[in-house]
Amino acid sequence: MIASNRGPVSFTLSEDGALTMRRGGGGLVSGLSEVARDAELLWVCAALSDGDRSAARLAPGGRLDEAGYDTGPLRMLDIAPAVFHRAYNAVANSTLWFVSHLLYNTPFTPHFDGRFQREWESYQDYNGAFALALAEDAGHEARVMIQDYHLSLAPAMLRVERPDLRIAHFSHTPWAPPDYFSVLPDEVGVEILEGLLGADHAGFLTARWADAFMDCCETILGARVDRASRTVAYQDRTTRIGVHALGVDGPALRARAAEPDVESHLQVIKEQVGDRRLIVRIDRTELSKNIVRGMAAYREFLAEHPEWHGKVVHLAFAYPSRHDLPEYREYTAAVQRCAKEIEDEYATDDWDPLILNMNDDYPRSLAAYRLADVLLVNPIRDGMNLVAKEGPILSPRCALVLSREAGAAAELGADALLVNPFDVSGTATALHDALVMPEQERMTRATRLRAAATALPPQRWFADQLHALA
Ligand code: G6P
Repeated sequence: MIASNRGPVSFTLSEDGALTMRRGGGGLVSGLSEVARDAELLWVCAALSDGDRSAARLAPGGRLDEAGYDTGPLRMLDIAPAVFHRAYNAVANSTLWFVSHLLYNTPFTPHFDGRFQREWESYQDYNGAFALALAEDAGHEARVMIQDYHLSLAPAMLRVERPDLRIAHFSHTPWAPPDYFSVLPDEVGVEILEGLLGADHAGFLTARWADAFMDCCETILGARVDRASRTVAYQDRTTRIGVHALGVDGPALRARAAEPDVESHLQVIKEQVGDRRLIVRIDRTELSKNIVRGMAAYREFLAEHPEWHGKVVHLAFAYPSRHDLPEYREYTAAVQRCAKEIEDEYATDDWDPLILNMNDDYPRSLAAYRLADVLLVNPIRDGMNLVAKEGPILSPRCALVLSREAGAAAELGADALLVNPFDVSGTATALHDALVMPEQERMTRATRLRAAATALPPQRWFADQLHALA
């Protein structure tokens, strides 16, 4: 069984009451959808929107597959909207995400008061609803793979209900070092660590995040940590810690990127860009993705290198994300402002230095990858970052400018141009270095990047974890 907040599909409800089904977004869903297709497993997820809740209510026991949707075995939990909202927006996205990506502006945030206490209770209830559903549906000694920071309490809760199960948890985000993790109220921090240690196996995308988790267990819980064998002993149990990098299914991605809808976007982009060099970025508009500093770096590059005016275009795709949160809406506005300033300063009648696109379009993203001379991936901090891996698979001569704080840097660092995401001038220099990189060198580096990016496709990533749980 798999359990995750977001499921592989989402529904929109039109005014006449009709439901339309779409594929879900984000790193977690892209990775898991690949495996869920061939494995015999039940996926349990939450209803995220009114559309999802209608679909879940109409299906017997929330089983969308049994209601005739082509989803594979899928149970969608209809959690009360207010509980869901507090668990997802207030705790998971505004607190746990901020802790793991080090996003707080500490003179003002976080601010844990009585309201947070209520939000935390909803997070407990939401985790309890998952634990209950899993306990109901799991066969004897089944293996259960619980995903991400939304569900950090569920492993321990499920163990109480069903000690016969083999339970894994996987974190798709970074993990914060103890000094930063301790901004959480003490009892909340303890509950999260104990929640995860309810699993037999706790997985992370890189050794760096696994080490940070073990450091928290040692410092905060006083657990016995064996770093060589990667185990954490606490109370009467031992949890094994696993490092499982997630890569891309290269042949499947290349096949998708050769389809006619991608080809037609390719023609449109070629017309926009002409024979100019192309710097591409593709992100959801997350605070952690550092889009504003990326644009500031491009602006500094243009200021320092007038010889490139009229000869380069920056194509920035910043797709909508988590618009229920005011910080995200403000960030989206900041991205737009920054793009407009660059446009005002540098655009001429026949040159658009920066094209910003904010409406999500997967085939257009694939077309942009294929044409990129430079791919800019500069997150403040990121669990893995699959964009950094997809780019080199689709563009044989693309130079990668990559944040050293992205999990992907552990595998791609040697052949990327690594940057400190806070160093705007350093990023501007890296953009220039990437543009002038000799042809032979870019091809050699891209070949090695491609090999690293495809080394651990989702099927392998998943199979390794199942094996670790056996
Ligand atoms: C990214 C992260 C995942 C996370 C997901 C949630 O994809 O890599 O760790 O689960 O965001 O995004 P959502 O849109 O569901 O809030």
